[in-house]
Amino acid sequence: MKDELKQIEEEAIAQIDQVETLKEAQDLQVAYLGRKGSITSVLRGMGKLPAEERPVVGELANKVREIISEALENKKTAIEAEQLEAQLAKEHIDVTLPGRHVAIGGPHLLTSIIEEIEDLFIGLGYEVKEGPEVEEDYYNFEALNLPKGHPARDMQDSFYITNELLLRTHTSPVQARTMREVEGREPIRMICPGKVYRRDSDDATHSHQFTQIEGLYIDEKVRMSDLKGTLKLFAKHMFGADREIRLRPSFFPFTEPSVEMDISCKVCAGKGCSVCKKTGWIEILGAGMVHPKVLEMAGYDTEKYTGFAFGMGPDRIAMLKYGVDDIRQFYVNDVRFLSQYHHA
Ligand code: DAH
Repeated sequence: MKDELKQIEEEAIAQIDQVETLKEAQDLQVAYLGRKGSITSVLRGMGKLPAEERPVVGELANKVREIISEALENKKTAIEAEQLEAQLAKEHIDVTLPGRHVAIGGPHLLTSIIEEIEDLFIGLGYEVKEGPEVEEDYYNFEALNLPKGHPARDMQDSFYITNELLLRTHTSPVQARTMREVEGREPIRMICPGKVYRRDSDDATHSHQFTQIEGLYIDEKVRMSDLKGTLKLFAKHMFGADREIRLRPSFFPFTEPSVEMDISCKVCAGKGCSVCKKTGWIEILGAGMVHPKVLEMAGYDTEKYTGFAFGMGPDRIAMLKYGVDDIRQFYVNDVRFLSQYHHA
């Protein structure tokens, strides 16, 4: 019986040696160690042995079982490792190959310009405000010293929704709303970017929808020189330190005095060229000292408070800064145009 066990061991080891797949290993396990396997059948015959031999043979049988079992385990581990190796080799990725191009978007040029202007004014302590695009006639006109029937209303052809509601023609109503919010009792430093609408026929320089940024500064002892200093800083920040500004007298019903600001032409440095229509200057924005009537309507004590306001068009600023010659480019969403400015 001992010889039989020895023989089983040798045979098993020799077979395990030849094994190449996990399935074969599994089959051998059943054949040798299973309930109907060779070792089990040897052990079944133990009853016929003399009593003193039984423990010896039993021990040997266990040993052989262990040896075979260990050999099988080792084999299985080796096969698994080999398989893993093969799979890794097959799925090898060359990380040095160039990747597929992924197109990413970027901010719209107008968004970039607006954010640049916001950053400047936030740095000066201004708050960024918003107002509704569907606006009440009262805030869009009346509270800005443009009563019904005022001829200056014609300067801004409007899209009316009802008699009292319209698409705002400028961001100036946010001035009136902000003053109303603080009930004429607190100083204000705010800018408000947003979309505005006019009943214009679209062409290279007109769009029925465009953007504006409004600015309002109210406090005690605010003077025209404060407005000039602020606008000069803005102009140099946006267009370059070498640009000069000039203020021309103008008219807006909500400011007195009113001005328009020009910057010196970058192309000809003030000498006169086709970009500046031979004047050497380019108009950038409207501004002025807030009209006492506007302050009064909002509840301010005009003996104590004064202020300045300005309104500018990011579309126009972007066109000048980047040489865009058609305002409609901002609104037709041609990615070939827009993507040129993604670094901007
Ligand atoms: N609201 C004016 C417009 O759309 C621009 C403007 C001019 C705004 C002077 C102002 C200002 O705040 O003081 O034409």
